[in-house]
Amino acid sequence: MSSTRTRLAVAAAAALALAAPLAIEDAHAGTVTAAPAATSYTPAQVLAGVQANMTTANKVNSKPHINTMTRAQNVNVYQVASGVFAYSSSLAVDDDGSDPDPDPDHQGETTFQDSNGKQLAAHHVPFYVLGDDCWDRKSPCPHFFYKEHNIKGRQFALMFYQGKCIGAIFGDTQTGNDQTTSDNDSRELGEASVKSASLLGIPSSGTTGGVDNGVTVVIFSGSSWIVNGTNANLNTNTQALVQNALDTLGASMGGTPPTSSTFEAETGTLSAGGTFDSNHLGFTGTGFANTANAAGAFVDIPVTVAAAGTKTVTFRYSDGATAARPATISVNGASLGTLNFPATANWDTWSTASISAPLSSGTNTIRVTGTTADGAANIDSVTVSQ
Ligand code: GCU
Ligand code: CA
Repeated sequence: MSSTRTRLAVAAAAALALAAPLAIEDAHAGTVTAAPAATSYTPAQVLAGVQANMTTANKVNSKPHINTMTRAQNVNVYQVASGVFAYSSSLAVDDDGSDPDPDPDHQGETTFQDSNGKQLAAHHVPFYVLGDDCWDRKSPCPHFFYKEHNIKGRQFALMFYQGKCIGAIFGDTQTGNDQTTSDNDSRELGEASVKSASLLGIPSSGTTGGVDNGVTVVIFSGSSWIVNGTNANLNTNTQALVQNALDTLGASMGGTPPTSSTFEAETGTLSAGGTFDSNHLGFTGTGFANTANAAGAFVDIPVTVAAAGTKTVTFRYSDGATAARPATISVNGASLGTLNFPATANWDTWSTASISAPLSSGTNTIRVTGTTADGAANIDSVTVSQ
């Protein structure tokens, strides 16, 4: 997927670098400004809003881009909100950037550097790739050309794929005009680093990895969305911006702010012997959590809120056995006490049980631990008031 890269002058990288690892600069006019949102938007809500705005009226390019893996010329870029650009394509794995990466896959160097002037390392930093210059040599460029849209190195983006949502930064560029004989010129969209692929659950091999379609990249332009940090902490700093980006974009797209958010149990993890099942009717999402039938069996469910506070946490559950399935509820390791989960008519019948819980802003882990030898009830989802 890669070829010769141009190294930016170290001086340019130094000029971009800031002392604080995650400093936010003043926003440019016409860009979305990072700001604390009153409510928390889920990735599914934001992706639905993005897709609703990927319309012809919002198309930025006049000539289609090439899907980097399928080779179809059907990838377009849309301005889905002020200063926010989105495209859907496949993901081909870019393995550039050798420092501090010992992987033998790596080739050459990335175009952009971390805040210490080191080339970004594809196995450590989730990044996406755009064309190096305007292939058509026209202005405005018929293809989406980052230099025309206030997009610079380490520019933040959200990447969505099959229910997952990660943060990524602009880390590398495709080959320039002088190498258009390759199949890898600047009209292509879809390449991203090994780390991006692995965070999205995509085969991440630098030589054989990638998926054929369905990755949506949403780029936040402007200097307030440039992520600072080193190869060692850029991933952490980038993921720390995800909820802020979801909330900022969610609010700017004019959707109704949610008064509660629902998180599917199947996004969580189970203790030994548990499974995520779909063999009973009426669940939401793709299934439900079925813990092992043992005292101490649990399911951990991540939930996200924008602002810290005491929230009502409501479990949607089923207990088709005859006895209740009491369970200890804990948040980030701190127990809130035991919640009773009374029996339901059968395993296809769902009921709710609620508890009040102090949550931190950002992601919290809610654990449901069965206290009896039956384990926990089947857990479908958790709804959190915002
Ligand atoms: C049945 C049912 C499961 C449930 C289990 C239990 O096997 O199909 O969904 O989890 O009983 O008793 O926990
Ligand atoms: Ca069970």
